[in-house]
Amino acid sequence: MSTKDAHAAATALLAGRMVILPTETVYGLAARADQSEAVARIYEAKGRPLDHPVIVHVAEPNATLDTSTEDAWVTEVPDYARALADAFWPGPMTLVLARGPRAGDHVTGGQDTVALRVPDHPLAREVLRIMDEQDPEGAPHGVAAPSANRFGRVSPTTLADAVEELADALDPELDIALDGGASGVGVESTIIDCTGDVPRILRPGGVSEADVERVTGLVTAETGRGIRVPGALPSHYAPLAHLVLVADGSALCAVVESSQEAGLEPAAVGIIAPADLDTPEGAMRLLAPATHEEYARGLYAAMRAADRGGLRMIVAIPPDADEEGIGDAVADRLRRAAAPRPAQT
Ligand code: TXA
Ligand code: MG
Repeated sequence: MSTKDAHAAATALLAGRMVILPTETVYGLAARADQSEAVARIYEAKGRPLDHPVIVHVAEPNATLDTSTEDAWVTEVPDYARALADAFWPGPMTLVLARGPRAGDHVTGGQDTVALRVPDHPLAREVLRIMDEQDPEGAPHGVAAPSANRFGRVSPTTLADAVEELADALDPELDIALDGGASGVGVESTIIDCTGDVPRILRPGGVSEADVERVTGLVTAETGRGIRVPGALPSHYAPLAHLVLVADGSALCAVVESSQEAGLEPAAVGIIAPADLDTPEGAMRLLAPATHEEYARGLYAAMRAADRGGLRMIVAIPPDADEEGIGDAVADRLRRAAAPRPAQT
């Protein structure tokens, strides 16, 4: 099932099978986007509600944003969206656009928009390119790929983590786990609503608000149409351990101390804090990022390590506010992971 063979993955996708697909953000669970039965398999494997839309991954920005064909993915692309595509595709950015006839209800969740992304990972790009080559009539092919985790859990950034989440749901004979190494960015793509007069960021990621404003020359909107973004549920990226966010090193020490006074074993408490901060006595260091990029790259693996080790609590210092870089996306994921969980049904 596990391979580095992009041909095998492209063939499986064309045949309607599922592929665990490496991308530069996180691993996705992919199926061809123009077959509702194939997409239904990924929903079932993830345990994801059926009305949640998925991101469609494509190889070629130009062919994908071409509104002139009868079988187009999109019907309207504002100039600022084309500028964003030119600047950041391939890359960690997803554009939400008015959907064309090719974007079925099974990828849009029945909404009138579709989310598109050109991933920047050599294997993912190779797979999409081979699909177009093997089946030129179907080009530009799209692959629906939500993150390769069970619904509500932390996204995987390595193949092993994705397989741990989903192995039971895959057919070892027919489905494929494609090994592209550890994801370089580490948090999910920036999602940008491009259906209004100005762009609106629905989920922060590797392309920052400052990047978007610089490239488009526009100020992003704060509020807009009531677009549903399930990834924006308050608690969506959650480890099993209880996550506590603190502002600085002394608050971190205080929380660790009081957890020990309350009877938590030292080995049950993990910390995530900048590299220049010492680990308090007894607590377990999960991540020591020197930069915001390192923080993003290591965050989900650190949460998984905590769960694997049976930790009860994680104490983390979020990155400083960061309009230019990926710090805001990291802080966003930490806030969501720390939010109280809604009752799961
Ligand atoms: O980096 C990423 O974006 C990763 C990799 C695999 O590409 N994918 C990912 O997919 O994070 P997923 O399904 O876990 O999250 C996609 C988010 C969901 O929150 C979904 O609600 C939102 O995208 N989304 C998809 N289509 C949308 C649409 N038409 N309008 C608004 N939000 C949409
Ligand atoms: Mg996800």
